[in-house]
Amino acid sequence: MALFDTDTISIESLKKLLQEKIPVKIVDIRSQENFDQWHIPGSELLPVNSALQETDDNIFIDIGFTSDLPVIVVCQEGFLSRKATEQLRDLDIEAYSLEGGIKHWTRVWNTAEMQVNDTKIVQVRRAGKGCLSYLIINNGEAAVIDAAVEPQTFIDLASDNQAQIKYVLDTHIHADHFSRSKQLAEQTGAQLFIPEQNILKYKFNPVRDGDQITIGKAILKALHTPGHTDESFSYLLNNKIFFSGDLLFLNGVGRPDLKSTNEVTRQKTAKLYRSLQKVLNLPEDTLVLPGHYHQPVSFNGNLIGETLKYLKEHLSLLHLDETTFINEILTDMPDTPPNYEQIVDLNIYGDVGNHDLVDLEAGENRCNSQK
Ligand SMILES: [Fe+2]
Repeated sequence: MALFDTDTISIESLKKLLQEKIPVKIVDIRSQENFDQWHIPGSELLPVNSALQETDDNIFIDIGFTSDLPVIVVCQEGFLSRKATEQLRDLDIEAYSLEGGIKHWTRVWNTAEMQVNDTKIVQVRRAGKGCLSYLIINNGEAAVIDAAVEPQTFIDLASDNQAQIKYVLDTHIHADHFSRSKQLAEQTGAQLFIPEQNILKYKFNPVRDGDQITIGKAILKALHTPGHTDESFSYLLNNKIFFSGDLLFLNGVGRPDLKSTNEVTRQKTAKLYRSLQKVLNLPEDTLVLPGHYHQPVSFNGNLIGETLKYLKEHLSLLHLDETTFINEILTDMPDTPPNYEQIVDLNIYGDVGNHDLVDLEAGENRCNSQK
């Protein structure tokens, strides 16, 4: 029996298939370059985009394509995948075109959880973009860090855990996604905490170095860790779990170059170095939970995070002296994130107006200084 009685599939339906581990073959027909930038976990590249555009012949016959599993075809925006799906169906293969393509996939999220004594942490991951948000729950109270998906997601997760969101915090002013923190605070009545700066045009509680909030019986401490941006903060939970924002990732460190000139970037890179030294002094068993992940997030429910010990052992960048570190970071910086200036502008006002977030947020995160 066919999975669906349509020849297209929504991103929500594909998410459900992956979560329920229903076996399907996901075929990405975009170019190698686009696939390498970002793709759906478990998908296979079949770069037939151009061939599909150039001819109306069934290209799947030419390449001898077969599949025993239902096929989900993915393209950039969900147009050419329809043509591919038609051709596959002509060969009696159960095929579906992913509606909206990889562009819409950037909105899909999943979760992973961990429990440490009386504190639960839910990591909310934008599978198609790599943005990571966190819900910290202790004794019926909750805090959200870097809300990167729709506010209702966090409201539902808190309610599932019989908790009330009391605090909403950002680590910095984001350039790769619209922060939902202001909306979430408004919808829940939670207190909104954002690093102290004079850039944002709306009211918030300024976070200062050393500030603490209590979530139930858990203590979250703010550390000013500039570099990625001047106002960047990280948060340390119960002296054990470090929410590193865009300072430190599992494969590298944050990029210091957005919205700055060469000289300012050099100064920011020096700040990044000093912030990292501060973090490297934390106990080695500190668990680092980053603000982004550099790969498509899988649906296996495994938390994305590593101990500081692991990161010290695997990231050679963390062992460089300041001058070498600066030179290394400034050489070969990746492309700037798409639409980042517009996204920063929206974040300054905390309002999307009539912008289409699917368009603006399309594409992987590029907050990392490594390609
Ligand atoms: Fe960032």
